[in-house]
Amino acid sequence: MKARAYVNFALIKYWGKKNEKLRLPFQASLSFTIDKLFTDTKVTVNKKLIKDKITINGISDERLNKRVIQHLNLIRSKYNIKDYVEVTSVNNVPTSAGLASSASSFAALTLAATKAFNLNLSKEELSRLSRYASGSASRSIFGNFAIWDIGDDKTSIARPIDINWPEFKIIVLMIDKSKKPASSTDAMKESVENKLLYDEWVKQSKIDLDKMLIALNNKDIKSVGEIAEKNANHMHDLIESTGITYKTKESLKAIDKIHELRTKGVLAYYTMDAGPNIKIITIDSEVNKIVDYFNEYETIVCSKGKDAHIVLN
Ligand code: PMV
Repeated sequence: MKARAYVNFALIKYWGKKNEKLRLPFQASLSFTIDKLFTDTKVTVNKKLIKDKITINGISDERLNKRVIQHLNLIRSKYNIKDYVEVTSVNNVPTSAGLASSASSFAALTLAATKAFNLNLSKEELSRLSRYASGSASRSIFGNFAIWDIGDDKTSIARPIDINWPEFKIIVLMIDKSKKPASSTDAMKESVENKLLYDEWVKQSKIDLDKMLIALNNKDIKSVGEIAEKNANHMHDLIESTGITYKTKESLKAIDKIHELRTKGVLAYYTMDAGPNIKIITIDSEVNKIVDYFNEYETIVCSKGKDAHIVLN
């Protein structure tokens, strides 16, 4: 069974777990699932296997395989399944460069594996299962805009929000494809320990989320961009208070250029995740101006992606 899931970028970030084992967040997050970056994962039950056989992007790497096996074990134990599987996963996203490859990877793995085991799960159940592997993966079950609620083990899942805004775009600026300096899991843990700043983050992100929903409903790109930018900067300030930084000199240079563009009247705003790459939040009418301005970078112009789905062949 082969499944495809798309990358999502958070406009209101998830940063910090209140329960590490169940991966429950301290605050709700809101994301946009895009069309251009995705993961295709094929899972086949093979009764002859005595352990899982995993290939990710053409290679079998023990460290990467470990997380996949853990997730397969979780699915097997939840649904009382004994079979081992062959997994072949191909990312068209550079792995671990803050481009949310874990979100699309684990959403695709969850869908492909549960189908291979003949489980026909609802999107809610797929979102919950994906959450156990990677928090942001819960949102990649859904295309377009989605909210991942705080909830408890049962209710902490993503849900789609009904906003039809085809002009909304995210442009990925490929600053650096290398691996990030610290995993999001480790950096989150350290951030949560910084209690004073962390409590402030939780409080502010709720305010940001409420404002973001109003701005999205109004299709007000200026407000959407400003709120997302402020929310991302808040998260990065929190991360940097722990001594970890994901921003490189190149990221800062690109951010300066986005500010420059705005002084020229272009509607361009940024967000950043656990890596150096920048995602520009904008609308259709501005795309060519932005791509031209950043002609020294590789850019990927993204529209809304679909829900995770089974692909034939
Ligand atoms: O789900 P994780 O562990 O890959 O964490 C992702 C966290 C951010 O990408 C930085 C923010 C988000 O909400 O996607």
